[in-house]
Amino acid sequence: MSLESIKYERGRLEILDQLLLPLQTRYVKVQGVEDGWKVINKMQVRGAPAIAIVGCLSLAIELLKDDCLDKKIMRQEIEGKLNYLVSARPTAVNIKLAAEELINLANSLSADENVTADEFRERFIQSIEKMLIKDIEDNRAIGKFGSEAILKSLEDESHVRVLTHCNTGSLATAGYGTALGVIRSLHAAKRLEHVYCTETRPYNQGARLTAYELVHEKIPSTLIVDSMVSALMHTRNISAVVVGADRVAANGDTANKIGTYQIAIVAKYHNVPFYVAAPLTSIDMSLKSGDRIKIEERPDREMTHIGEHRIAAPGISCWNPSFDVTPASLITGIITEKGVFAPDKLHEAVP
Ligand code: MRU
Repeated sequence: MSLESIKYERGRLEILDQLLLPLQTRYVKVQGVEDGWKVINKMQVRGAPAIAIVGCLSLAIELLKDDCLDKKIMRQEIEGKLNYLVSARPTAVNIKLAAEELINLANSLSADENVTADEFRERFIQSIEKMLIKDIEDNRAIGKFGSEAILKSLEDESHVRVLTHCNTGSLATAGYGTALGVIRSLHAAKRLEHVYCTETRPYNQGARLTAYELVHEKIPSTLIVDSMVSALMHTRNISAVVVGADRVAANGDTANKIGTYQIAIVAKYHNVPFYVAAPLTSIDMSLKSGDRIKIEERPDREMTHIGEHRIAAPGISCWNPSFDVTPASLITGIITEKGVFAPDKLHEAVP
């Protein structure tokens, strides 16, 4: 059975509280937009696609309880609520693009005289619900294209050894995962020898979440701490690095979990191909390059404490950017649901 981070049926939304994993499995009810904003902001749910889906579903939950008959008021409220949800975490672009698409839909439903308020609500909710299925389909396609590309580039190797960073699996998406989807696909094809996952300080998505998924799926895997990446590449003959993305700019520069950039540099030095796996909803063609991406800074406490336990010297100041930007020049290919693109060919993927 695969891990289910988002449980949804009409009128009911629950998310697996990722702050408690791997030691406790507890689902949290999301009763509307305010709850949606909180679970995203506190990182009880995280990962760019999951953030977008949970945010939008929280709006679907709220709309279902609403009995407003004025389409103009509905449209206005929808826009305000979506903008509020986007503000919960600033770096991942998926929720921003989803909000823009939904605002366009609300505009056209509200302007259409043949559509009643109830029909508006129904069609709007249905459109949000489709995101769950589409995300899983996209991830399966990413897994297939990514595993094929990696195997093709390594014709002389029958089995590959992959390094990944952060968590990009079922927990970060509607299911299957992006970079972890590529790893799943290699494993299913019996071509994966081993996967290494980084701890991913300070929030430990690798140690807590990716390791949890890999063990759950019985994929041969080993955990390393972030500072072991150079030693790993020097000694373990790594075939490829695959990571996810929170926002890819038009030139291919990619924002992803802090630490991704240094892994890309180490990969370049060791001649190891470095792939980014991301759905088209992570690509922001409105930004020419990565230096315009807003990088979220998180509270010091994520660095100074593990749970309730303080690990850093009291009084020390901290800098805690949650993401960094890997320059396109370090990226071998961007794996999307439409195929694998060189960073400078992204315009072929996104019309
Ligand atoms: O801060 P997080 O845990 O939300 O960061 C997650 C990542 O950086 C992932 O790599 C990215 O969102 C892609 S998830 C498919």
